[in-house]
Amino acid sequence: MRKPDTDITMSDGDFSKLRAIVHQNTGITIGETRKTMLVSRLRRRLREVEEPSFGAYISRLASDPEEMQELTNRVTTNETYFYRTPRVWDYFQSVFLPEFQSKGSNRKIRVWSAAASTGEEAHTIGTILEQLRLETPGFDYSVLGTDVSSRVLDIAQAGLYNGRSITRFRRDQPALFASHMTGSDAEGYKAVPQIRARLKFKLHNLLEKLGGTSPFDAVFLRNVLIYFTDEDQEKILRHVRDLIKPDGVLFIGESETLNNLRTGFEQVAPIIYRPAARVGNSCT
Ligand SMILES: C[S@@+](CC[C@H](N)C(=O)[O-])C[C@H]1O[C@@H](n2cnc3c(N)ncnc32)[C@H](O)[C@@H]1O
Repeated sequence: MRKPDTDITMSDGDFSKLRAIVHQNTGITIGETRKTMLVSRLRRRLREVEEPSFGAYISRLASDPEEMQELTNRVTTNETYFYRTPRVWDYFQSVFLPEFQSKGSNRKIRVWSAAASTGEEAHTIGTILEQLRLETPGFDYSVLGTDVSSRVLDIAQAGLYNGRSITRFRRDQPALFASHMTGSDAEGYKAVPQIRARLKFKLHNLLEKLGGTSPFDAVFLRNVLIYFTDEDQEKILRHVRDLIKPDGVLFIGESETLNNLRTGFEQVAPIIYRPAARVGNSCT
């Protein structure tokens, strides 16, 4: 008879090994007290791949890159929704975009939603920039969404949203929602094709340099730094600093700060940063 999932237990040794594997692959630090969380996220996976124990599962990970990706998909926390943290969007729309346009409206803006999760942030950016494109001859945009989880990127790529994900956006930005999202409550809502054509999603680990891209005007790195050590946060921010234009903007999450890190960014408002001027080749 099949054993219930609850029979599979995790030894402290296996917990340490899994924490180390997750840290090595994603930079995410699983706290020492989070064993119950890890067990509950992985027990069902052991059943699905017919591994009898966490020890056997750990051995499998060493020779199975697809399973390693699946582990990443299971341990990441992907909470997100459209128009999260209105203060960010207020600054983007009423300070940053007018400033960008004042330097010549006939330009293309490049935006990076790093740690994009299921794509709500990238789609929020898309609706704002699409409205501007319609109002401004010559203006265009592209938005790149990246994440370390392939599962959430599949959802972002499909771009079909409903329920809590769109509640705040619909309530607070009814005109933008009505103009740029199509669908129904029964079937879900998608951004219009003009927006979807300008959004791209790609697998990327923030601990590595994002290759094959030119610098961005705006980077949204929100609600992800909390999972990393200070050292890894500094490493990620060095990569971001290298990929953001000198007059660009960086947004981080509401419960995050760069105050105690050496990053090459300076704060202009809570959770909003601009690149610090470079002195020679070094960052301040
Ligand atoms: C809580 S969500 C944040 C989504 C969105 N930025 C927001 O603020 O609403 C955090 C995301 O970071 C991603 N993530 C975690 N570690 C990462 C890494 N090393 N590289 C890229 N993405 C990572 C997770 O997969 C998850 O989708």
